[in-house]
Order: sequence, then C-alpha cells, then structure tokens
Amino acid sequence: MLRWVQLSSRVRMAIRRESPSFLCLIVLSIFLVGIASAEVFFEERFEDGWENRWVKSDWKKDENTAGEWNFTAGKWHGDSNDKGIQTSEDYRFYAISAGFPEFSNKEKTLVFQFNVKHEQKLDCGGGYMKLLSGDVDQKKFGGDTPYSIMFGPDICGYTTKKVHAILSREGTNHLIKKDVPCETDQLTHVYTFVLRPDASYSILIDNVEKQSGSLYSDWDILPPKKIKDPEAKKPEDWDDKEYIPDPEDKKPEGYDDIPAEIPDADAKKPEDWDDEEDGEWAAPTIANPEYKGPWKAKKIKNPNYKGKWKAPMIDNPDFKDDPDIYVYPNLKYVGIELWQVKSGTMFDNVLVCDDPEYAKKLAEETWGKHKDAEKAAFEEAEKKIEEEESKNDPADSDDEKAGEDDEAEGEDADDEAKEDSDEDEVHDEL
Ligand SMILES: *[C@@H]1O[C@H](CO)[C@@H](O)[C@H](O)[C@H]1NC(C)=O
Repeated sequence: MLRWVQLSSRVRMAIRRESPSFLCLIVLSIFLVGIASAEVFFEERFEDGWENRWVKSDWKKDENTAGEWNFTAGKWHGDSNDKGIQTSEDYRFYAISAGFPEFSNKEKTLVFQFNVKHEQKLDCGGGYMKLLSGDVDQKKFGGDTPYSIMFGPDICGYTTKKVHAILSREGTNHLIKKDVPCETDQLTHVYTFVLRPDASYSILIDNVEKQSGSLYSDWDILPPKKIKDPEAKKPEDWDDKEYIPDPEDKKPEGYDDIPAEIPDADAKKPEDWDDEEDGEWAAPTIANPEYKGPWKAKKIKNPNYKGKWKAPMIDNPDFKDDPDIYVYPNLKYVGIELWQVKSGTMFDNVLVCDDPEYAKKLAEETWGKHKDAEKAAFEEAEKKIEEEESKNDPADSDDEKAGEDDEAEGEDADDEAKEDSDEDEVHDEL
C-alpha cells in the first residue's frame, strides 16, 4: 500500500513538471510495483537488534529448566556473519516469540518459512515453529499457549522423522494426515508452508515441493464431503470371487483309492518275534509318498469376477462447507516452543508473507547462497573429529562408549519427566 502511494505521487509530480523523463518514470514505476507486490508481514534474519524484536518467555524458569539461546552462526556455516538463534543447553525447554502487526490471511496466500539446522545429532526433539493469533502474553508463552499453525520438522527415535503441519480450529489441533518426511542431517534446511485461499496447500523443503493437496482432504478439519452410502447393499448377483475351481479339471480315476499310509517295505519281522505269543506280525505303516490329500480342482481366474464391491460415494449430510476453512483472522506472533534433550538446533530467516515467489527468492539468497560452503565446513569439522578419534587409544574409545550409554539412559528418564509438555502430546498423538 505504502509503495503504491509513494510511486503514484512521484508519477503525479513528474506529470505536473512535464519533464521529458516522466514517461520513463511511469514505466519504471509500473515495473517496480510489479516486482514489489509481495506483502511481508514478518521477516527476521537475526541481525543486530533482534533481541528488541523477540521476547524470551519466563516459561519453566521457576523450575530451572528454561534453556538459553545462543546468537551464533554455529559451528559450521557459509558465512560467519550470518547468525541465527540456537538452543544452547541440554534437557531444557525453549520458548521465544516475536510480534508483528495483526493481519488476516483471508483472500490471501499465507507463506510461513524458516531455516532450521540441527548441529547436534538430534535423537529426539522438534525444529518447528508456530504462528499464534490474538492476545498472547509473550512472557508466559509456553507449551500450553494456544496456537494457530504449527509447522516444521520433528525427530524422535527411529519412528518419528516428519514434518508437522498442525492447523488449529476452535481449540482443536488437526494434524496433517499425509506423511511428510523431514531432513535428518546436520545442515541448514528451509521449510516452507503455503496455504492458499482455494484451500490448497504446499509443503516445501529447500524450495522443492514435498507435499501438496487440499485442507478438505488432508486434515480432518471438516467432516468429509463424500461418504460411502450407508444404504447401499452389495447386489445379490455380485460375483466378488477372484478365483474359482476350474470346472474342466476332473478328479483322476482311482485318486481316492490311494491310501494315505502304506506298510513300510523295509521293515523286517524281528528275529525273536513269536507268532503265538506276540500275534501275527504286521509291518509298521509309513506316509505314502503317492498320497496327495483330498482331491481339489485347480483354481482359475473367475471370468465373472466384478472386483471387490464398494459402496457408492454420496454427499455427506453432515458436511457443511466453510469457505473460510483456511482463514486465520488475527495472526500476530511467530513463536518457537521446544523441548530439547540435546541442544544445538538453530533457527534463522523467519518469514511470514503472502507471496511464495518472494519466499523462494529469500531462501535462494540465504540458504541457497551459503549451502555449499556450509556443507564443506561441516565435512571439514567431521574430518577433524574423526582424526582426533583415531588418535585416541582403544581404552579411551571404550570410555567414550560407556559415556554415551549413560547419556541414553538419562534421555529416557527425562522423557518421562516431561509428560506435561506439548511436544510429548504431539508424539502421543502420532
Ligand atoms: C555459542 O555458539 C558458539 C558457536 O557454536 C560456541 O562456540 C559457543 O560456545 C556457544 N555459546 C554458548 C553459551 O553455548
């Protein structure tokens, strides 16, 4: 809006002055409006002054389990000046949020994007962010604070390695029903959620679409539009047997005369067998190799097979369309709320806007520009660790292993301790 006003007044001035360059200005103005059409509601690249824009919550402080954020470029990066915020203490809760002028995404595309990097080898922990609406006491922001959208990667053990896309409607959190695997390495990745006014959505990782569809079908926000007709019955003459006995197949003559057991031809009457005392000797029986069990016709494909019967789909009488299914009328905050067993997760370049192209460009200019250098720095760091490890004698590496086992036990105990946290709730739901 602001840009429009500025540009059009400049154009007006140019016209009034009737300067020969005014035509040029008009053309330039139209061009500028064309490329500057994105509306950016929030953009945080974590440069100096970020602490004035973000509010660290007091959540979990009185229990001494609130973790500190580290403002850093991390241990490996493509640019030491490009910093983000990183969880810096193990076994801690983290909650931080930032506000922006309240807006509604009605009739707008909503784009929510951020970078996340797990520098630790993450065993169990989230890397997701939230969009919150209305009045939030940022000093009290925590696991129980209602949110509108929760989006981003979540890793726990071998089973949970997924991208969450949870949409909250009237106090109920709806998880996406489709599986979206997340990245699991120790490098920066860009996660993007796009929600459009036609109720379609896309999930991108590193500017590549990983999932897309409709709010109607991929979440249980509204009852389904179509249901199986409960009145429908399978027609009497519906043949749903895929295979039938071959009517041409005939039982071979004498088949039933083949005995299941036959006397053992190799058996010999024992030398000391006394017919008078022991009775008449008979050879013991053995299974007859000729015997093939009761006769059955061989199976053939049923020429009358109609397929499995399915009830026809009808309009669901309980479905009431909500054309505002995608609308969040009071979006006002972004927040990070996490539990971390092992710290080291880093966030950067948080964006809330209405233009997927703008988001794509930002991702290219940040993550895209630095990813190769970051990967090289990571590989260098890994090499150093390996070299140091190989210097250690075997006794040392045994000690190290024992240490790791202790840590794993600690994690289990701690997982139980945090039963009331939101993240556990999410894992339970899955
Ligand atoms: C912050 O991160 C840097 C870079 O990884 C690290 O050297 C430093 O120790 C960290 N500080 C804290 C308090 O964790």
